[in-house]
Amino acid sequence: MSALARREGTDRDIEAMPPLPDRAAERLEAFLGRVEGLADTLIGYPCSQDFDYSELSPFLRYSLNNVGDPFADSIYRENTFEFERDVVAFFQHHLRAPTGETWGYVTSGGTEGNLYGLYLGREIHPDGVVYYSEHTHYSVAKIVRVLGARSIMIRGRPDGEIDYDDLYETLKMRRDVPPIIMANIGTTMHGAIDNLSTIQAMLTDLAITRRYIHADAALSGMILPWVEDPQPFGFDSGIDSISVSGHKLIGSPMPSGVALALRRNVDRVARSVEYVGCMDTTIAGSRNALSPLVLWSAIERWGADGLRRRTLRAIDTAAYAVERFHEHGIRAWRHRNSVTVVFPRPDGSIINRWQMAPQRDIAHIITMPHVGRRHVDALISEISATSRPAPGGSP
Ligand SMILES: Cc1ncc(COP(=O)(O)O)c(C=O)c1O
Repeated sequence: MSALARREGTDRDIEAMPPLPDRAAERLEAFLGRVEGLADTLIGYPCSQDFDYSELSPFLRYSLNNVGDPFADSIYRENTFEFERDVVAFFQHHLRAPTGETWGYVTSGGTEGNLYGLYLGREIHPDGVVYYSEHTHYSVAKIVRVLGARSIMIRGRPDGEIDYDDLYETLKMRRDVPPIIMANIGTTMHGAIDNLSTIQAMLTDLAITRRYIHADAALSGMILPWVEDPQPFGFDSGIDSISVSGHKLIGSPMPSGVALALRRNVDRVARSVEYVGCMDTTIAGSRNALSPLVLWSAIERWGADGLRRRTLRAIDTAAYAVERFHEHGIRAWRHRNSVTVVFPRPDGSIINRWQMAPQRDIAHIITMPHVGRRHVDALISEISATSRPAPGGSP
């Protein structure tokens, strides 16, 4: 029996869901107003907001659930596996995965993808040590604790990249232990990209053959496929797994992401579960089945060309922001191919109003596709009108 039939009263022995009481409906209405008010000042976090997936609202009536492996059959058939597979295929192609050699699924976000990648790394190398830079997203230290993995934090450069000398020296001291390297393909605060070629060259130089590289490409994983001269970021750069957020560059009303990994590693940890009649390859059991629909809809609507156009415009807005900051005598900078614009930490009221994430003496805006030049102009005139910001805007 469908939820629809229940609502239409065809099954008299089943009580239909009651309507929302008036006071609750008013509360929702007021909340919607608050969200709409906040939407125009969302420029400090990497969440795109230029979407409308209302064509998917009929699916809110069903218990869709993507429990299990999207590439296997499941007894639970109210799922969106077929759309999830299309999303995974799109990411595989644009993240340069060799045909047939990777597997993936839609996650709850970048954090789950990082957990998945490091979990595989730890399973492949139970005696391994996780190396990550001090600029790595805060979730990674937690993931390492959850996995009970040994780890070493590597110094970071002021511009957000890993300190290659520190990494090299640390690897050199422990050549007998397989490294599980968490490479940042776009750090949270600076948008910095750890150089995968340099890291690979170090491992070759030290003759370290047992190793695992996971790329945290939460934001830049959907920027670099569209630019002309990307830094190394995909499977063609020798990574073993990658995590990208879906709600960041693509945009989604709920957090989501995509994790991809070399199939031969996934096969080593997969096991079959009788309860749902499928392979237990994912971190979560029950999984959000709407996120694959959302990502699929965005991919269908934009296509690769549209995503490229939209990304290049976002990069252009970031370049505009740096120029405008400089015109106002404020030191601001960004990495190549990045939409993260770093500048000296402004007044608390500005941080609050524009929903910015500060860190010590810096702050940033992230010119996601919904951020226009008018946002940049408004922010800079507010900063200029307040007292001189503290130094800290250059790497
Ligand atoms: C570099 C990086 N990695 C991981 C994450 C976590 O991603 P999510 O919030 O999708 O779990 C973020 C979030 O901002 C991030 O910037």
